[in-house]
Amino acid sequence: MNRRKDLGSWQAAKAAGEKLVMITAYDHPSARLAQAAGIDGLLVGDSLGMVVQGRSDTLGVSLEAMVYHTEMVARGAPECLIVADLPFGAFEASPEAAFAAAAALLKAGADAVKLEGGLPMAETVRFLSERGVPVIGHIGLTPQHVRQLGGFRRQGTGAEGAARLAREAEALAAAGARMVLFEAVPAELAATLTARLPVPTIGIGAGAGTDAQILVWHDVLGLSPRPPSFARTYCDGAGLIIDALGRYAAEVREGKFPPT
Ligand code: KIV
Repeated sequence: MNRRKDLGSWQAAKAAGEKLVMITAYDHPSARLAQAAGIDGLLVGDSLGMVVQGRSDTLGVSLEAMVYHTEMVARGAPECLIVADLPFGAFEASPEAAFAAAAALLKAGADAVKLEGGLPMAETVRFLSERGVPVIGHIGLTPQHVRQLGGFRRQGTGAEGAARLAREAEALAAAGARMVLFEAVPAELAATLTARLPVPTIGIGAGAGTDAQILVWHDVLGLSPRPPSFARTYCDGAGLIIDALGRYAAEVREGKFPPT
């Protein structure tokens, strides 16, 4: 078994100063490849609304879609930690609603759920944690709040923003969150909070000082038309696929495939 399946090993890695690696995954073949590459944890992110379903934000993603994708990913990477996002509308109304949604994701194969939101979500994090649901808090830029934030904007800036982010991170950890994810926040702030928090932190667009890093599958593999500036693209996936498909099409049209 991969030694990162168990959340306790993430806590031990933080204590040992070992960096942890996550990527999003949405289906069985990508989960299988990520596990083969030695990735520690996979997030079935509601970013699937944008990169898989072609929406302009994540708000339209349903719990049913999250369950469907979580099942595929969990089957593909049984040795990785599998985290599934609680989608917008499935958890905010009450801790009980959050528990029902989280239970569906755990039954689908998730090892933990991630939810967006700071102080208002602390009670829900406690409720879930006390009932056997490992929770990861997601603060900073929370894409589910994009309409309230007025766009995909950097967060935690200025003294007031930094103080609020610190309060949120500490409240989530105190409520039982097993990890805290920082998205699009100043690197120095994320590093300071990482040193202060008792639980591992995950960063995306939050500098090099968090315990773990995460990126979106399509950004890493060159499949996003406009990857965010903080992402790094490790291959020209779109170019490779278009080239392969073009050669296949040409060979069919030229009578070279199938062979006679
Ligand atoms: O949904 C997602 O992919 C995420 C990552 C951007 C952290 O929440």
